[in-house]
Amino acid sequence: MTNWLSRSEEITSRIPKGFIFGAATSSWQIEGSSHLRGRSIWEDFADTPGKILDGAGADPATDHFNRLESDLDLLADLGVDSYRFSVSWPRILPTGEGAVDQKGIDFYDRLIDGLLERNIKPALTLYHWDLPSALQEKGGWASKEIYEHFENYADILASKFADRVFTWATLNEPWVIAFLGNAAGIHAPGIKDPATALEVAYRLMVSSGKALEVLRSNKANNPGVVLNLTTIIADDDKIQDAANHIDNLQNRFWLDLLAGRGIAPEIMDSTSQYTNWDFVEEADLRAAANKIDWLGINYYSPMRVASKPAKGPDHIVGQTPALFPGSPPLHFVPREPQTDMGWEMHAPSLTTTLTRITKDLPGVPLFITENGGAFPDKLVDGVVDDQDRVDYYATHLLAAMDAIDQGVDLRGYYAWSLMDNLEWAEGWTKRFGIVRVSEDDPTRIPKRSFEFLKKVFVERN
Ligand code: FCB
Repeated sequence: MTNWLSRSEEITSRIPKGFIFGAATSSWQIEGSSHLRGRSIWEDFADTPGKILDGAGADPATDHFNRLESDLDLLADLGVDSYRFSVSWPRILPTGEGAVDQKGIDFYDRLIDGLLERNIKPALTLYHWDLPSALQEKGGWASKEIYEHFENYADILASKFADRVFTWATLNEPWVIAFLGNAAGIHAPGIKDPATALEVAYRLMVSSGKALEVLRSNKANNPGVVLNLTTIIADDDKIQDAANHIDNLQNRFWLDLLAGRGIAPEIMDSTSQYTNWDFVEEADLRAAANKIDWLGINYYSPMRVASKPAKGPDHIVGQTPALFPGSPPLHFVPREPQTDMGWEMHAPSLTTTLTRITKDLPGVPLFITENGGAFPDKLVDGVVDDQDRVDYYATHLLAAMDAIDQGVDLRGYYAWSLMDNLEWAEGWTKRFGIVRVSEDDPTRIPKRSFEFLKKVFVERN
């Protein structure tokens, strides 16, 4: 493994002026203090035995709600330009609608002002998966009523914070929300119904487009959306059709909607056994194509598919055929090296993902809004020497710079994550942080990867 701490100039010398560096988190994964807000679908999910690997729940998470000031100091110490966080909808509107909870507004006011005092630009995501349970009971993202609820929520946040926020993202990873949550049922709300998942995918993008309009009418800066797109690698000749189908649902669906190309006939055909797509409306498609000022990409790993299963362990988090309704038979065959999630580490796929997006959605500036790796860290004498994570960051930062050299208008990069946190259905079993935190010990311990990223952030021109 390269000693990147002594070779960080290979990266810093390639970083363009004005490039934004940051770290990212999300509300449910870090905040805790769930008694001070409404209930979300993730508590409902966590309360169902067997859904979260280690039985973890919303509390205490990393206790960020009570440790806000010292967490902001950590960010300042890291030397970031920006911090990407999400707002918990049920902290603002406990049932998703009705009266605003001032406690929630106050918390995010303190967060935003605390960032600005430290000269850090707030990058706010409206929705990172913690839907108020009361809205799920009314059909959640599968119902048309969600448009109005999401617009109302966007309007409340924009009217309070538009003067101080640097970038706004409507949604984080609608693919995950739709398919992990509603097709494979491995995320909240735990539904296993392809028809629902496909409708949710569509309604999410329409909701996003409508919220973009609301943000603009409140003069919010830089409205955009965050997708998890990736490169699909067909590992043998027989798997090309399946690879195309995976690519259609994972990448093309979202890019086409944003670009105003609607839903591809191939996608409608290959999913026709589940839905006839009769919920699609022309006016909605126009809304889904509303202008974004930037697109966020969360990238971790390529998806490598083959006609035969790979040898060895096959537990790959978030890679299973159930996520791709209508797919011909296929297997996910990530190669070594892999992270703790079973995700193949392959930095060139970050470059190809970015260049492909630039081709399919030209003219839209890109940010990498999440990138990082889960590794089985060891705390030894108070130190986490996570060289594997350092290596991951270094190779992916270089791959991002390669994309810039190939003409991609990449404006920034956020590491996932500022700290270890509740990794959704994996609970505390997977650590993505550059700062160590445990469920039974909320002490913050910056890891070697923190030191490395700090060096990159501080030493660049
Ligand atoms: C992304 C999520 C983020 C985190 C990482 C590992 O899909 O946006 O919350 O769980 O994966």
